[in-house]
Amino acid sequence: MVVQNVTVIGTGAMGSGIAYVTAVAGMNVTLVDQKQEFIDKGMERIRKMLMDGIDKKKMSPAEGEKVFHRFKTELDMAAAVKDADLVIEAVYENMDVKKEIFNKCSASAPSDALLASNTSTLSITEIASVVEKPERVLGLHFFNPPSAMKLVEVIRGEKTSDTTIEAALAYVDKLNKTAVVAKDSPGFLVNRVLVPVLNEAVKLLDEGVASKDDIDKALVLGANFPVGPLKLADFVGLDVALASCRTLERTLGEAYTPSPSLVRLVDEGKLGIKTGEGFYKY
Ligand SMILES: NC(=O)c1ccc[n+]([C@@H]2O[C@H](COP(=O)([O-])OP(=O)(O)OC[C@H]3O[C@@H](n4cnc5c(N)ncnc54)[C@H](O)[C@@H]3O)[C@@H](O)[C@H]2O)c1
Repeated sequence: MVVQNVTVIGTGAMGSGIAYVTAVAGMNVTLVDQKQEFIDKGMERIRKMLMDGIDKKKMSPAEGEKVFHRFKTELDMAAAVKDADLVIEAVYENMDVKKEIFNKCSASAPSDALLASNTSTLSITEIASVVEKPERVLGLHFFNPPSAMKLVEVIRGEKTSDTTIEAALAYVDKLNKTAVVAKDSPGFLVNRVLVPVLNEAVKLLDEGVASKDDIDKALVLGANFPVGPLKLADFVGLDVALASCRTLERTLGEAYTPSPSLVRLVDEGKLGIKTGEGFYKY
């Protein structure tokens, strides 16, 4: 299977970035979301990424124009996936929502289309359980922002076939990114390590051990983090960080229980950069 037509479901922070890198690599992209206003926001993000690419001389204005014409948008999911070689789901980190989407894709996408989830922590095997031919389901875990981050984790569910993994690796290669392959396991590779680090930083804040600035400064200067853990949590989205933490807690135990401030900020709708406030104000 050579991937040329990609459908991205969910046009939020990750979906729009994945769509952008896919179109820049020469593939056609169909974007789908629940409401036109969400699609418009996603397309606006993509337009900004293109302008940025042109400003930084990564592409000429003519190339930018060409890339822009590779996008289509759809509100109807069945129509959006009907010609897809690869579907990448990037909606909320919620198993029920993801299963409903994969169920629809199973019915409407071509029977040999690859069906991928960008989930941060949820089980690919469980998502695949609602799909006919689960051997074509896998995780394609991009990092934020997809336009800058070089890694994609390729996740093999219990029933994922070798052919699916090979096609996925070829797609990642086309994006000029680096793939690592991991078995389906809570948090896969990066988040299994990173989520507890972010959560532990919030625990330090909750326990009054240091100020948020000092916690961030400590990890930047003492552990060579490119950005402090609390700032990184704001960037990732505190809702995404909390959902990831809860999955790890459920599957790996209470060492992963989310810290109180993380839960409180999400309850208050303070989700980080995307809402203008998290641990910091933006
Ligand atoms: N934010 C990160 O740093 C990051 C990194 C890697 C992976 N992820 C994962 O990517 C996924 C998306 O995260 P995000 O940060 O882009 O979220 P987001 O909240 O920015 O975007 C989610 C989008 O999905 C859309 N959506 C929800 N239900 C839908 C449905 N039924 N049909 C169509 N669209 C629907 C929403 O309208 C929204 O536009 C999650 O699974 C998350 O765990 C996030």
